[in-house]
Amino acid sequence: MMSDKKIKFVIIGTGNISATYFHAIKNINEAEVIGFVSRTLNVPSYLKSPGKFEISDSIKNIKSEFDAVIICTPNYYHHINAIEAAELGKHVLTEKPLDITAAAMDMMINKCREKNVKLGVAYQRRLSGDNPFIKKMISENKLGRIFSVDLSVKNYRDENYYKSAPYRGTYSIDGGGPFIQQASHYIDLYCWLFGRPGKITGKTSRFIHNIETEDHGVAVFIHNSGMIGTVTASTATKPGFPAKLEIYSDKGYLIVENDEITHWDIPDVPFPKIVKSKNKFTGSSTHIVNDTSNHEKIIKDFINAVKENREPLINGEEGRITTEVILEIYKNQIT
Ligand SMILES: NC(=O)c1ccc[n+]([C@@H]2O[C@H](COP(=O)([O-])OP(=O)(O)OC[C@H]3O[C@@H](n4cnc5c(N)ncnc54)[C@H](OP(=O)(O)O)[C@@H]3O)[C@@H](O)[C@H]2O)c1
Repeated sequence: MMSDKKIKFVIIGTGNISATYFHAIKNINEAEVIGFVSRTLNVPSYLKSPGKFEISDSIKNIKSEFDAVIICTPNYYHHINAIEAAELGKHVLTEKPLDITAAAMDMMINKCREKNVKLGVAYQRRLSGDNPFIKKMISENKLGRIFSVDLSVKNYRDENYYKSAPYRGTYSIDGGGPFIQQASHYIDLYCWLFGRPGKITGKTSRFIHNIETEDHGVAVFIHNSGMIGTVTASTATKPGFPAKLEIYSDKGYLIVENDEITHWDIPDVPFPKIVKSKNKFTGSSTHIVNDTSNHEKIIKDFINAVKENREPLINGEEGRITTEVILEIYKNQIT
């Protein structure tokens, strides 16, 4: 019976974020990694006993039984990997963004629906720190009429980051710069909390990096309710600053830094019990995710979605919204 069984995962791609998943799954009783798909047949350096794992250059050639894949390849490849896995009847948990074009996202969503496999997207900030509490407060209308939200994702990445792989900072594989790569986590969080904006404009530019895409930009979101949102996304702002979300309503305001409420003045609602995370979020200055706790939450939700035959917290359709919004920022540039 699926409910008693460990979910067996194959990780596709053996780079940076694959290590986060491997270590996260070691902390989850109901899951195990049985193998890897690597175009280069790379044996990940984080494996202490590599012989225990099957490593193949294609999902189709994995001989051991498995239930699901975790896609840890660059953004453009997500739909290709997802479609291949779904064709084999395997559930799909993909790294963010879902993919980089509407057509690719539709293909992977449709294939997973057709083959009746789950499709989950790792936008883990939704489960991080105080963010679930803020979602609850908004859903219960405790914050009043929100009229202004300012999101700041001012990261820094050095030249070594962009030189670490030729696809980084390209339109064809990454799909864009900090808006789709680093800030997509927070644009997903924004859309989850406040809904999809009705009108979207932006201005992106390249200031300090020798890359094809933007390394800095702003977006303005106008909601049907009249609410105005602003977003700054950057990999050029040294040394990198905590992601910051400022929320203003007719009742008061709150400020959130790195997913933790730092300021709260909503008169009718007592100051909430703030969740203090043990690990410091370091995404503002590096792409390496050593704190596996939020990925563990995403994986556990995905496992339960498979076992309970329900949708994952962030399914394909939800993940699609975030990429759509980002593509509109790129398209609707203020001239
Ligand atoms: N959720 C988060 O917090 C978070 C953080 C970082 C990254 N990410 C996402 O995770 C994904 C992977 O990012 P990463 O930082 O792990 O990248 P990475 O270090 O470059 O690893 C990507 C891996 O994908 C495989 N791959 C397959 N086709 C490739 C190609 N044409 N070019 C390069 N690599 C290819 C490679 O493994 P093989 O050689 O073994 O095939 C490579 O090691 C991206 O979608 C990114 O947005 C998410």
